[in-house]
Amino acid sequence: MKTKILMVCLGNICRSPLAEGILKSKLSAKEYTVESCGTGGYHIGSKPDSRSIAIAKKHAIDITDQRAAQFDTSNFKLYDYIYVMDHSNYENIIKLATNNQEESKVHYILNELYPNSNAEVPDPYYGGDQGFENVYQMLDKACDKIAEKLNTQNKKTS
Ligand code: 4NP
Repeated sequence: MKTKILMVCLGNICRSPLAEGILKSKLSAKEYTVESCGTGGYHIGSKPDSRSIAIAKKHAIDITDQRAAQFDTSNFKLYDYIYVMDHSNYENIIKLATNNQEESKVHYILNELYPNSNAEVPDPYYGGDQGFENVYQMLDKACDKIAEKLNTQNKKTS
């Protein structure tokens, strides 16, 4: 069975589409599914923000086929790992969890780099292009850790 990972932000047009594209680029599609969504529904069906598309392209990642979706409680069953970008994403997802097992799937993505810090990936939506590069760099480093961890775990269990 594939390991399934869900990246979550607010709008699913800036941060989590980048996180999805970056992690996908580091994992085998045969073994892993990586998807993303937002806690909010404002952008359902939209392409990623053009600035996220551009920064991904600069780093040779194509995210143009992604379309925004909203988090749904069925995702607790569908996914093994749910990574959030900030405190509000965390609170919004955790309040929908119905048991400890569901809660335990939810992680701050930057805790992969800075354990237990609950540090946030800043929302670049209202800022300039530098904000998107900054987000890209943070997510790229966090996704390196995630890929390393998942591949190590999968080797042990297979
Ligand atoms: P994201 O950024 O959560 O990284 O996709 C945002 C995009 C849109 C909005 C907020 C955050 N918005 O309010 O429309």
